[in-house]
Amino acid sequence: MAKPGLKRRFPSPKDLAQLMRFRKVHFRRTDRLLSRAFTIEDLRSIAKKRTPKGPFDYTDGGADKELSMLRARQSFESVQFIPSVLKDVSEVSLSQKILGRETKLPVGISPTGFTRMMHSEGEIAGAMAAEAFGIPFTLSTMGTRSIEEVAQAAPNGRNWFQLYMWKERDRSMALVERAAKAGFEALVMTVDVPVAGDRLRDKYNGLTIPPALSLRTLTNAAPRIGWWWNFLTTDPLRFASLDSWNGTVAELLDSMFDPTVTFDDLKWIRKQWSGKLIVKGVQNSLDALSATRAGADAVILSNHGGRQIDKAPVPFKLVPEVVKKVGRDVEVYMDSGIMHGADIVAAIASGAKFTMVGRAYLYGLMAGGRQGVDATFNILTQQMTRTMKLLGVRELSELTPSHVVDYR
Ligand SMILES: Cc1cc2nc3c(=O)[nH]c(=O)nc-3n(C[C@H](O)[C@H](O)[C@H](O)COP(=O)(O)O)c2cc1C
Repeated sequence: MAKPGLKRRFPSPKDLAQLMRFRKVHFRRTDRLLSRAFTIEDLRSIAKKRTPKGPFDYTDGGADKELSMLRARQSFESVQFIPSVLKDVSEVSLSQKILGRETKLPVGISPTGFTRMMHSEGEIAGAMAAEAFGIPFTLSTMGTRSIEEVAQAAPNGRNWFQLYMWKERDRSMALVERAAKAGFEALVMTVDVPVAGDRLRDKYNGLTIPPALSLRTLTNAAPRIGWWWNFLTTDPLRFASLDSWNGTVAELLDSMFDPTVTFDDLKWIRKQWSGKLIVKGVQNSLDALSATRAGADAVILSNHGGRQIDKAPVPFKLVPEVVKKVGRDVEVYMDSGIMHGADIVAAIASGAKFTMVGRAYLYGLMAGGRQGVDATFNILTQQMTRTMKLLGVRELSELTPSHVVDYR
């Protein structure tokens, strides 16, 4: 029986047609998965489904109890933004001048080793995406594509080369010369690895480079057939900067890193390299000052994404103190823990000139190769833009420490 005041009717086909909305059909799995990725965490979930456990954990994990990584992320979670309202924010610019040139976004790609183990497109996908987005790409000494291959893939990119000082200095210097010849803009000297951090996930997984085919990996491979297909049908995984290796990751790292490196070596490198020099892995203001005095153009506050010392200082928290200490003599960048465009905005508001991402880029790469890396930087761009508008600022230079306070 009809309720008083409620008159029923039959819906017409036109009414129904207006209500119907079908999602666009994607025939390629990558397109389908990426069309539903709205956050870096979404990319991580896709990455986890598509990548074997060994390489995924190698990327996702940190050292020991992974507290450095956790705390770096928590520091961004506990940010409270202070917006200003009634500002014209119809146009927002995310460009920033670093090392004397404009970059389109205040974020670049941190160096990561073994990248073709995460996805067969590896460093080339990163370098080409960075070139397209107008941001720097850093090739690791432990990269799986060579300096020349990166230069060729992204000839107009801002390519940086990350240097680990090896026990055999001549080999490190040969790489520096190649980077100069290939037109790399900057040398990024990583200084937080006198020894490899204790990456327990890799130990439990028995991760070797290249990944070994065991009964366990084969079982894990079954639902990740695309990864194995790519891995087995593209050129074999090898390091572009060193001869083949058949041991565990930790053994490889420990055999290479030189624990005797000091600030004198940094000064020496400064003399050898005429391009821009960036020192990565600085974790206190005095070291930042020493790096500045040794001739660095920029320092990257970083705890290596929590992969080296556990219970390390949180880079985001260090920014104000370091900026105060080094003044304008050196540019202060930071990485570790960035998973959202708002994290980048918070870092810039706190005084950082620039930021870098490691995992956020690799999750995209593992989720969908080059297309996935594009997804990472599209997501970060949208998030940064929205955060800026909601804060009431149009330019990065308008961001000040008063825009961020600690929520706790
Ligand atoms: C899988 C992986 C490999 C890495 N390899 C290197 C490397 O070869 N050289 C280096 O200086 N840093 C390396 N890092 C550290 C990154 O450059 C960067 O400092 C870190 O990823 C930043 O933290 P985030 O992952 O939370 O963004 C690596 C990080 C990851 C996740």
